[in-house]
Amino acid sequence: MIKQTNDQLYQEANVYSPGGVHTSIRNVDPHLIFTHAEGAYIKDVEGNKYIDYQAAFGPFVLGHNHPYVNDKVIESISRTDLFGVGTTDLEIELSKKICAHVPSSEQVLFCNSGSEATYHAIRLARAITEKTKLIKFQGCYHGWHDYVARNMLSEWDKIGKRDPGSAGMLDEAIDNTLVCTFNDLEHVEETLIKNRDQVAAMIIEPIPHNIGCVLPEDGFLAGLKRLCDEYNVLLIFDEVITGFRHSIGGFQKISGVTPDLTTLGKAMANGYPIAAVAGKKEYMSRFNTQPGGDVWFAGTYNGHAVGTAASLATIEMMENEPVHEHIFELGNRMRSGIEEIHKRLGINAVVAGVGSVWTTYFMDSLPKKYGDLQKNDSKLYVVYRKKLLEKGIFKMPMNLKRNHISYSHTNKEIDQTLEAIEEVLLEIL
Ligand SMILES: Cc1ncc(COP(=O)(O)O)c(C=O)c1O
Repeated sequence: MIKQTNDQLYQEANVYSPGGVHTSIRNVDPHLIFTHAEGAYIKDVEGNKYIDYQAAFGPFVLGHNHPYVNDKVIESISRTDLFGVGTTDLEIELSKKICAHVPSSEQVLFCNSGSEATYHAIRLARAITEKTKLIKFQGCYHGWHDYVARNMLSEWDKIGKRDPGSAGMLDEAIDNTLVCTFNDLEHVEETLIKNRDQVAAMIIEPIPHNIGCVLPEDGFLAGLKRLCDEYNVLLIFDEVITGFRHSIGGFQKISGVTPDLTTLGKAMANGYPIAAVAGKKEYMSRFNTQPGGDVWFAGTYNGHAVGTAASLATIEMMENEPVHEHIFELGNRMRSGIEEIHKRLGINAVVAGVGSVWTTYFMDSLPKKYGDLQKNDSKLYVVYRKKLLEKGIFKMPMNLKRNHISYSHTNKEIDQTLEAIEEVLLEIL
């Protein structure tokens, strides 16, 4: 049999799908064709093996193809699948668990992706407040739909300005989404005053991981909650990345700030497709899953056995094993190990992160907002990642992307990664 190469298959993929990828951001150089995933590792079609820190943008909190999760999924689909009517036992069990762990979740509804979850949360907030506008933060990502797809990874001269993420978006959707600066309560309050009685909701990644790792300053999230209460705005924490990865109760549990509504996805089911919108019962009962509710909520695949079983298994692992203790410990080792290398080699860089997530920015101080990231040496950021990839360490070779550690990573992978980091830094600097 002739061995196929990454390049050959990429050409073939391009014949049948535009760009050969099924999500725009996946089209990076080098273009690899992946065939295997297990634990902390992924493999391409040429047999190259990588320690994976990309984690498919975050879902893999336990590691790839985790046996406990897979077994639960297989067990569930050997007896059930999807009914499109009524309720399943798995849905009841999973909703109970989410309501037990996530502080803002008095009730929860399942959908299939984070984008669906943020769409539902925003529409619900508009119905409840009977207002139109939405506040988001520059640099945050909440999915691909028109309400939120603006001012994400904006060009530097577009920061805070009108920056729709796609052609074909409705002007009305773009212009009803206002953009504020992260960690800047004054800017948020100014925006609320300027748009008094018009803002329905404020959506935020409590840690903007879509630009690596920018931490909220002390009091920022609590300040947002206070402003939202004062101006009758619903606060939505988009915990699609932070939820279950940083704590079983989400970052809201760590920060002590309870939003009105929460969106969840990714690490919720260790790579299987499911997402959720959760919140106060008083709000959730406006969805028309409740007789008399007037906010549409539907989806053919909502509550599918695969996603619900996978999520139950993932949460059970977190309840029964020291998942967070392990990934936080390895995260701390990684961050302090890299900082030590930087110090020894005299590298001008900072290591940002929390828990299992980290990134190295090539700049001299930690960023507080998207605009600060202009100082990061983006060329070096990508070259560094490409060189690591050649040494079997897979981090997304793209500016501002973060890295994730899973429960399947061990000290061995951390040591190997630190060794490779030192080699690469010596090569490029
Ligand atoms: C914070 C956040 N919200 C929402 C989404 C959208 O989720 P999905 O890609 O599952 O639609 C993402 C995806 O990366 C995300 O990071």
